[in-house]
Amino acid sequence: CGIVGYIGPKEAYPVLIKGLKRLEYRGYDSAGVAVLQNENIVVYKCQGKVANLENLVAKSEPLIGTIGIGHTRWATHGPPNDENAHPHSSEDGNMVIIHNGIIENYSPLREELIKRGHHFKSETDTEVLIHLIGDIRQNEDVTLFEAVRIALNEVIGAYAIVVMEKDNPNQLIAAKKGSPLVVGIGEGEFYIASDATPIIEYTKNVVYLDDEEIAIIDREDGFKLMNIKNQEKTPYVQELEMKLEALEKGGYEHFMLKEIYEQPRSIRDSMRGRLRPNSDQVELGGIRDYIKKFVNAKRIIILGCGTSWHAGLVGEYLFEDIARIPVEVEYASEFRYRNPVIYEDDVVIAISQSGETADTLAAIELAKSKGATIIGICNVIGSSIPRATHAGSYTHAGPEIGVASTKAFTAQVTVLTLMALHVAHQKGSITNQRLHRLLIELDSIPDKVQKVLDQNEKIKYIAEIYKDVHNALYLGRGYNFPVALEGALKLKEISYIHAEGYPAAEMKHGPIALIDEEMPCFVIAPRAGAYDKIVSNIQEVKARKGKIIAIVTEGEKLIKEMADHTIEIPDTEECLMPLISVIPLQLLSYHIAVMRGCNVDQPRNLAKSVTVE
Ligand code: G6P
Repeated sequence: CGIVGYIGPKEAYPVLIKGLKRLEYRGYDSAGVAVLQNENIVVYKCQGKVANLENLVAKSEPLIGTIGIGHTRWATHGPPNDENAHPHSSEDGNMVIIHNGIIENYSPLREELIKRGHHFKSETDTEVLIHLIGDIRQNEDVTLFEAVRIALNEVIGAYAIVVMEKDNPNQLIAAKKGSPLVVGIGEGEFYIASDATPIIEYTKNVVYLDDEEIAIIDREDGFKLMNIKNQEKTPYVQELEMKLEALEKGGYEHFMLKEIYEQPRSIRDSMRGRLRPNSDQVELGGIRDYIKKFVNAKRIIILGCGTSWHAGLVGEYLFEDIARIPVEVEYASEFRYRNPVIYEDDVVIAISQSGETADTLAAIELAKSKGATIIGICNVIGSSIPRATHAGSYTHAGPEIGVASTKAFTAQVTVLTLMALHVAHQKGSITNQRLHRLLIELDSIPDKVQKVLDQNEKIKYIAEIYKDVHNALYLGRGYNFPVALEGALKLKEISYIHAEGYPAAEMKHGPIALIDEEMPCFVIAPRAGAYDKIVSNIQEVKARKGKIIAIVTEGEKLIKEMADHTIEIPDTEECLMPLISVIPLQLLSYHIAVMRGCNVDQPRNLAKSVTVE
């Protein structure tokens, strides 16, 4: 979910609605705003996108007031409808809340409040929280801050909240635990948001709240930071480096397309200052103090979710192949719930674009509590995961707004490659010759990615042919197996076509039964790797009348004769191939989704950062 708040001299509503549009990628089931207008809290909320909310407000009386809050929701408790949309009000209607996260003990709290005469309009856990705060405020003669603080001591779960009260026109109370929250400090005005994207155009000075911190934001007294134990904290004001242009579409029809096209630059940015091909050196300042831990590690565990997990699989191949360290790749959500064996000399690499994924964060805490060394690979600077890890390397891909991850994946793989090479060099598990070759080659990847992007028209043509299929199979071997998984994920998440990725050799153990003349198989079949074997796999599909769309190395002849369509990509070292071979699959999914009329940037039911477990 995305939350936003404003207090200052400006009209609040325009700031809130613009902020919600920036945050919409975090969730878009329903949206709402509340503004304090002439001593009344005016709430508008409705199902659907922020644009629906904007229309609703446009049809009503102008919303006037200089303090307000807004929310865009990704449903957890209760379906996305008008009632369940935020803000939610207290029993007496005197205060409103917006919330991101889950209150796990909401059910006993709700029952208790019902016994005390409370009535609930929605099915959400959030409404329980604001009723609880309202109840305390009414019955215990305490300040708004105190009421929030006492209530937060009673809840179990995760939250980022902002509370506004009718009789308190100069104050907003914001608090966080588990879910992210950042406060922008302007000239006599304050902005609150789930991430910095709505704030950047007003101020560069921000404070990221830590868990269990509560901010009292007052028009007259300014910003005061407390915690739920009622201790005062010193806020750490950071300067944002993000640029506003990075949050705009810049002439592209969709963020996803822009982000696909940014990859030559974003991969270059991931390597900037780190890759020194001329001196055969990789420099990763962020992990400098932990390199010995890597060198001595008997095992690496890589954690992630979604696309980040796929990048982790590529990381497994890289670290085993180049650094000769055994690797296990785990879904963060599975790892944390199955009592895993973790040793103190394990190095855990946590991969996350947003740096906020709740399951990944919780898995990190578990591994940390067992004494392992935790290294982060994240994109969003200052987010929760980099702050929870011992050390790490940012991917520097720039903000990724499209919900389907593209440039973040290639940036993650780039950083994993640099890390594996760095560790291998320190360990002495790579020859200088191979290191030299790989660094030179890595340096050429951005140009090769560009060459694939230049084939966009051809890829679009192929997309047109297959846009109406109901199923698709993605096959790859070795380093390209994770790419097959990622290709299938891209197709299913944005075009709603059922797709599966498989190691090509495994096809004969099941998926081959699905093949008929209706079934397209996207086969990643470059020369590098088990080429002959994958040629055999292609023949197996053709023998059963399946359609083959093959990603092949430039100049390929044999597969061209067998396949229905081929897309040629530049050759590279086998271990760097995922950085190139994933590009045509991203473009294919993009075009198919657009042709099917899908909302590529905000696919149904999904959210960009999943801050609930
Ligand atoms: C969500 C997003 C995916 C992303 C995954 C992990 O499901 O829609 O694109 O891969 O979360 O997110 P993270 O921010 O941890 O990489």
